Amino acid sequence: MQISKRAQAVQPSATFATAQKADAMQATGVDVINLCIGQPDFPTPRNIKDATVDAIRADSVDGYTATPGIIPLRQAVIDHIVAPQGETGFTADQVVVTTGAKMAFYALFQAILDPGDDVLIPAPYWVSYGEQVRLAGGQPIEIAPTSTFKVTPDQLAAALTPQTRAVVLNSPQNPSGVVYTRAELKAIGEWAVAHDLLVIADEIYGELLYDGNTPAPSMLGIDPTITANVVVINGVSKTYAMTGWRIGFLIGQPAVVGAVNKVLSHMTGNTAAVSQAAALAALTGDQSAVTTMRAAFKERLDTIYPLLMAIPGFDLPLKPQGAFYLFPEVTQAMAQKHCATSAEFADLLLNEAHVAVVSGEAFGLANHIRLSYATDLATLKRAMQRINTFMQE
Ligand SMILES: Cc1ncc(COP(=O)(O)O)c(C=O)c1O
Repeated sequence: MQISKRAQAVQPSATFATAQKADAMQATGVDVINLCIGQPDFPTPRNIKDATVDAIRADSVDGYTATPGIIPLRQAVIDHIVAPQGETGFTADQVVVTTGAKMAFYALFQAILDPGDDVLIPAPYWVSYGEQVRLAGGQPIEIAPTSTFKVTPDQLAAALTPQTRAVVLNSPQNPSGVVYTRAELKAIGEWAVAHDLLVIADEIYGELLYDGNTPAPSMLGIDPTITANVVVINGVSKTYAMTGWRIGFLIGQPAVVGAVNKVLSHMTGNTAAVSQAAALAALTGDQSAVTTMRAAFKERLDTIYPLLMAIPGFDLPLKPQGAFYLFPEVTQAMAQKHCATSAEFADLLLNEAHVAVVSGEAFGLANHIRLSYATDLATLKRAMQRINTFMQE
């Protein structure tokens, strides 16, 4: 059996691999606390499920839909995601509904990259960007992180090549929880416009911000010249605890949207109609569940951040502002436990403390680990206690 060079070059998702290791230990009866998780631990809100059941009973979600999705859902994206950023003038045909945000990225890279094209990807980054660029024949160019985990136009300029087509920005950021300000986004947007690059803004954690100012600042609504070079990726997975429904959104200019639709028309055809009905209910229905989940994440962050900071060898001077992850530097902890890499340290934590975390290498940053707080507070406190005890040994 021949496997393509393209498929051979792709690395499997590191977050899935670590979670699998934890599951395997759990299956043998070990009480593992799994902090690898990249999805809210809440059920999808009841009002969304009820509306979806109604749609099924009404026989309204049985057939194919248009490739970019049903018009009411695309309009809801304009009304509830684009317009609140002060961005006017967008129409529903500038939105594509995709099979999760992950598929939005995949189709986008297929639509905009030729072999040999470069995409700038600031570290730390979500694991799939680089692999998806490679799958499209492109080359990811990693940019080393600053101490704030926010890339600057100067850094982008230093990494620019003649083949660069786009830059990927993620705010609120997975894995660090860092959030770019409007001014920082504007500076990067202006730089991208000056170099005729596309800014791909991953805003999937935009509603999970804990300073009382949701949604987080967007690349949209800053300046019309920037908007013309921006593609925003969003979705319902994180905001509405709907990871399994697989609904993402791509929002952009007609040329890009048209190319993405063409690609998707031969891939997924359309996103599952039943999930589109659910996403429509999510965006247009009662938002109180979002408020409740956000408050729970904030309480967890506020509780475990100081506990994490108190663990010997763990360093996280900037408290995360959004998403649901902590990304401490563990250089000293690694030295104390004689680990050469954070992957080794993560393995040791799993084997000795029975706490599963993801090593920083997966996100382009050595000497860090990612802990998710998408788990109840009591479990999180137990996890902090276990890690602390392990580090005191
Ligand atoms: C930064 C980031 N972008 C995109 C996604 C993809 O989300 P989904 O495909 O569930 O919509 C994730 C999921 O973990 C993520 O963390």
